[in-house]
Amino acid sequence: METKNIFSESGIIITLLLIAIPVIVASILVIIKAKNVLKNFLKKKELEKFNEYLKNLSPEEVKKIEQRKKELEFSLSNNELAGDMTPIDAKGLIDNVSEASSLRFIEQKKKSQARPYIEPDLTKLILWYLGCATFWLLFGTTVGEYVGIKFVAPDVDHYSWLSFGRLRPVHTNAVFWGWASLAMLGLAYYVIPRVSNVPIASIKTGYRTLILVNASVILGSLFLMAGINNGGGEYREYIWPVMALFGIGVIISLRNFYKTIAKRTTKEIYVSNWYIISAMMFLLVIAVIAYWPSWQNGLGETIIQGYYMHQGVGMWFMLFNLGLMYYFLPQQLNKPIYSYSLGILAFWVQILFYTLIGTHHFIFSAIPWWLQTVAIVGSAGMIIPVVAGTTNFLMTFKGSWHKLSGSYTLPFYLIGIIFYFTGSLQGTAEAFKFTNLIWHFTDFTVAHSHLTMYGIICFMLWGFIYTVVPRLTGKEPPQITVGAHFWLALIGLLFYTFPLMYGSTLRGLMWMEGAKSFIESVELMAPYWLWRAIGGSLMWLSHILFAYNFYVMVKKKVEIEIPSSPKDILNAKVELDNQEVTN
Ligand code: HEM
Ligand code: HEM
Repeated sequence: METKNIFSESGIIITLLLIAIPVIVASILVIIKAKNVLKNFLKKKELEKFNEYLKNLSPEEVKKIEQRKKELEFSLSNNELAGDMTPIDAKGLIDNVSEASSLRFIEQKKKSQARPYIEPDLTKLILWYLGCATFWLLFGTTVGEYVGIKFVAPDVDHYSWLSFGRLRPVHTNAVFWGWASLAMLGLAYYVIPRVSNVPIASIKTGYRTLILVNASVILGSLFLMAGINNGGGEYREYIWPVMALFGIGVIISLRNFYKTIAKRTTKEIYVSNWYIISAMMFLLVIAVIAYWPSWQNGLGETIIQGYYMHQGVGMWFMLFNLGLMYYFLPQQLNKPIYSYSLGILAFWVQILFYTLIGTHHFIFSAIPWWLQTVAIVGSAGMIIPVVAGTTNFLMTFKGSWHKLSGSYTLPFYLIGIIFYFTGSLQGTAEAFKFTNLIWHFTDFTVAHSHLTMYGIICFMLWGFIYTVVPRLTGKEPPQITVGAHFWLALIGLLFYTFPLMYGSTLRGLMWMEGAKSFIESVELMAPYWLWRAIGGSLMWLSHILFAYNFYVMVKKKVEIEIPSSPKDILNAKVELDNQEVTN
């Protein structure tokens, strides 16, 4: 195979262009930050010079300056027309004149507004979902971090329970079913009743699903570590009774959501509910297909595996998150979604193409050529819903870009949208025959998995959680730690994925040349795996900060507040006086 002219291959060109987009966005952000740092540095230097000049001022010069100061400070008394009466503001028209009560090292972000009324029981349920999801994020990525370290230090332990082969699926399944799925379901319990304009049909059912999903991830992880697994392909390593718990959990909540939507007082079913309900229906279909006893062997099993893997990510995680985005983005920007019909178009085209692309996981395998071709065509067809969705979101942003700098939630949304575009289209490029030949057996797919599952799904979910929780609890997370969470996660993700993509391309080309031994390609990857461990560590740190922010948003402890407005001061005085009387 000719390997020299890889830059003329369309898959490679698309990938390079896609890599350029986040790099350009990140570079612009870095340039802005660097410009500010440089400006500060130059100002500091100027100040030092100025201080030097101050030190050497002669008494005459000081006098001259004092004289000039007096001249400049001359002003009219402002009483010329009004007289000497003290001004009063009997109607309270002048308020909040001095609002800068603290030093501002960083830009003050806009605070969220508490919802007028959300049933306290529902609030509690949603917080339980999000709390458990946060736990599984920490657990799952701690395992991921350890698995990543094993690439750099393979002999770090010799316990069968902690072996790479057992821990890898513990990581993937915990972040899939524990973190992302619970967070999505918890957020759906917020969105569905809001857009249907009725209370949720049953809160108890919500708790039942929560228990079933948690039980499935706990048991699944323990079984995997003990070496008891389904033996099948990726993401369906949990044995069927364990996965059944998850499935039943989804079924009963799906019924709960159906009942809620059926009672809606709005005429239309809002587009979010289309996406969320279909995602739950698809999950059940693919889970049954993936575990169907007669499809567990031979080539059929491989076809089912491809189908299951990409329906899992595309029709469960992606469809669900798009539904949430159609609710949260307009709400955060305080304007309607750019085009409702574009949302519906993207919905149907996604269903048309996404369900056909599973076999792109096995290009050049023994699966019939026509099926592989269908998968490649479907992967290219995915450009339509991805471009439609991205356009819809960006056009909704249009005219509101200024809100980005004043919000701590919107940057998460934007990064999610950028990766939705670049990560998905990277998948299209990866499905082409030539590129798949280079990358299929390398870590390129691992980079794609994280650019999508992390770059799209996690960033969107974090944005939604930072939006919803302060509205439910009335407590804001500290701005500094939200910023640190954002930047560590983003920089960590870039460190994780870009070196892997580069190293994998070199490795794939090395295999295709066929001149070197396999072990030489392993040695080639060593520095790139180190980068992955470094990036992974930054991502992991960011999750600790996220967990801390979540804790701050939900903690019961009441903040000590010193009354500052006249109303609060008088209320406090009345309370104090009353206390003294009763004592
Ligand atoms: C601290 C953050 C994370 C680290 C250090 C990490 C690390 C890893 C490692 C080392 C692997 C094994 C790759 C291999 O076999 O070569 C892996 C696989 C995977 N991880 Fe993560 N991960 C992290 C976060 C996440 C999150 C949050 C998600 C999803 C929400 C995720 C989804 C996946 C998937 C889907 C795979 C399978 C990749 C494939 O087979 O292509 N990871 N991760
Ligand atoms: C236009 C949409 C997309 C296309 C065409 C696409 C294409 C692909 C291809 C061709 C592969 C297999 C590479 C190989 O094994 O050689 C792959 C793997 C993968 N993709 Fe995508 N992708 C898309 C969007 C997404 C999204 C949105 C997600 C997640 C939210 C995602 C998650 C994954 C994961 C986790 C894998 C690894 C599966 C494994 O373990 O083998 N993809 N994708």
